[in-house]
Amino acid sequence: MNGLMRRIDAWIDSQRLSTTRLQVAEQLSFVLGCPVQLLPTTGGGGQDRIFVARSLTGPHRCLAAVRIPCQWKQCPQAEPFLPRETLSPIQRIARESAVYERLSPHGLAPRLIARSTQFLANDFLPWERVSEVLRRDDAALWQVLPAVLRSVHAMHSLGVSHMDLNCGNILISPERNRVVFIDFEYAPSNHLSPVDRFRFDYLRLAHNLLKPRRGRRRAFENPLRFVQMFAEYAPVSAAGIPESLPAGSYARLLDHPEIAAGFVENFGISRLESNITGGNRVSD
Ligand SMILES: Nc1ncnc2c1ncn2[C@@H]1O[C@H](COP(=O)(O)OP(=O)(O)O)[C@@H](O)[C@H]1O
Ligand SMILES: [Mg+2]
Repeated sequence: MNGLMRRIDAWIDSQRLSTTRLQVAEQLSFVLGCPVQLLPTTGGGGQDRIFVARSLTGPHRCLAAVRIPCQWKQCPQAEPFLPRETLSPIQRIARESAVYERLSPHGLAPRLIARSTQFLANDFLPWERVSEVLRRDDAALWQVLPAVLRSVHAMHSLGVSHMDLNCGNILISPERNRVVFIDFEYAPSNHLSPVDRFRFDYLRLAHNLLKPRRGRRRAFENPLRFVQMFAEYAPVSAAGIPESLPAGSYARLLDHPEIAAGFVENFGISRLESNITGGNRVSD
């Protein structure tokens, strides 16, 4: 969907959610102790819409990010190529709130403000997404990546895997030394072992960083540096090739021979499938 269509789609959904928005704004005004209004963002677009709660008094600050499921939309379709579960609206809210409560005391996710069956609200952070930083300045890869990987490691040490770890779901501080993770709307498939859940996060992150408008050019200029940064934080990989992780979900790692070799060594991924094309490649 292009930018204009996305905006129209967001506008239609936010009109359909107008009653819910007013109810949520009322509840949040009570919880936050000041009147707020909910303004649409272009975020969401799948089954939920994302709003910011902006104070109606004083300097009109953004106080919360708010997820509101569009109840009329069907549950998302299952994703045969990815080892994760799509969730119902209530389950999405439950999963994201549980993770925010687990991670926020450690500075790894925003603080949960309130939740109900209708919505989830968390502290709004005026930070950029790593995707935006890299789109503007791909040389920032080498500064951003250690901060991101350190935090991924810390998140995994707390027993949490993200399952949709792309640069758009990572907010980074202006000093670029702290990151928080957002957008926990998937759960790992039951058959996935903990080490494969963590490995999946690393592989999806690397796959996303190797997109052309992220860090692809910089990583291809210095593939060993890219591999070594990941190797520093790699989980202890189980012997052999993880069958539960389809190679199409990390196909960009196999586009560069040195990166492929490094990830085969560190993560046990399959080099044999480097000719994955078209339909089996999972974007993002
Ligand atoms: N600036 C922000 N500060 C804090 N949390 C945010 C911010 N932006 C998004 N979020 C969190 O991330 C969730 C998903 O938002 P987003 O990634 O924009 O959605 P999508 O990827 O579906 O477009 C929100 O429900 C909220 O919890
Ligand atoms: Mg997102």
